[in-house]
Amino acid sequence: MGRYKGILLAGGSGSRMYPLTQVMSKQLLAVYDKPMIYYPLATLMLFGIREILIISTPRDIPHMEQLFGNGERLGLQLSYKVQSHPNGIAEAFILGADFIGDDNVCLILGDNIFYMGDQLNDFSEIISPNAGAVICGYHVPDPEKYGVIEFAENDKVLSIEEKPKLPKSNFAVVGIYFYTSDVVQKAKKLSPSARGELEITDLNNEYLKENRMNVLRMRRGSAWIDAGTPDGLMDAAQFVQLIEKRQGLKISCIEEIALHRGFIDMEQFTNLIVSCKDGSDYKKYLEKIMHEKNFNV
Ligand code: DAU
Repeated sequence: MGRYKGILLAGGSGSRMYPLTQVMSKQLLAVYDKPMIYYPLATLMLFGIREILIISTPRDIPHMEQLFGNGERLGLQLSYKVQSHPNGIAEAFILGADFIGDDNVCLILGDNIFYMGDQLNDFSEIISPNAGAVICGYHVPDPEKYGVIEFAENDKVLSIEEKPKLPKSNFAVVGIYFYTSDVVQKAKKLSPSARGELEITDLNNEYLKENRMNVLRMRRGSAWIDAGTPDGLMDAAQFVQLIEKRQGLKISCIEEIALHRGFIDMEQFTNLIVSCKDGSDYKKYLEKIMHEKNFNV
């Protein structure tokens, strides 16, 4: 996989989650044992991405800065940008123009939870810097709630439609997207849709028109959960609880990933443990990792 910077988009109006989102954004709500935003951050880290821009609302950015700071403790370079109004997902590239510069960029939505296992390797193969754009399809029973990918028989993409009334397939576009740096220019040329947003689907259609779009179908058994509704949030929490309890291994534990990916050394990891509140299972888990050499499974 070529060099990518990451953008974690964690704003929005939170309307689908009201009244949960009255005083904080959904990305700060709990998904079982950690804040929701840990999960997309962990996904970026698993892709080896260490330079990350977090975009959120004027209200929530200070909390996110409080959570992660400049990221140094995790071996990351984090920066923050306010989105003053939820003008659409594709606005992330306009807000992040200086951050992206001439680099490739991976955008992840702050309420999307991935559990990919071995499929991470498929991404490394498909995400070549010259592809233009790479998006991912996941088979769902209710595609009308998402962006939908229509495939030809040879797996070529025929169309991508945003929340169509009559979906042409069961493949939803998930909230992780990979682009070359020209995404900034393309985003700047978009016009707001009928719902007044700069649509990620319109942006993807630009790449499709130029024949510069690759799609990765997520495999059976991999998990993708849009945790941005009360049901999605509950599903995500139950999924994480079940897997973590059965395996005794955590999903999206950012400290563990930082250690195992070599972003930090054991001394830095020990300092992270010291800063955790005593009495939490989370701290006990990190201590276990420190002592068990073969934990990296
Ligand atoms: O979850 C995947 C789906 O995400 C895709 O299948 C759709 O193609 C895509 O349009 C998007 O659909 P949603 O309607 O679910 O997007 P939503 O408005 O919920 O926004 C997704 C996340 O991005 C959410 O965490 C809030 C954040 N967001 C959204 C907008 C519009 C922002 O931070 N700023 C924004 O302006």
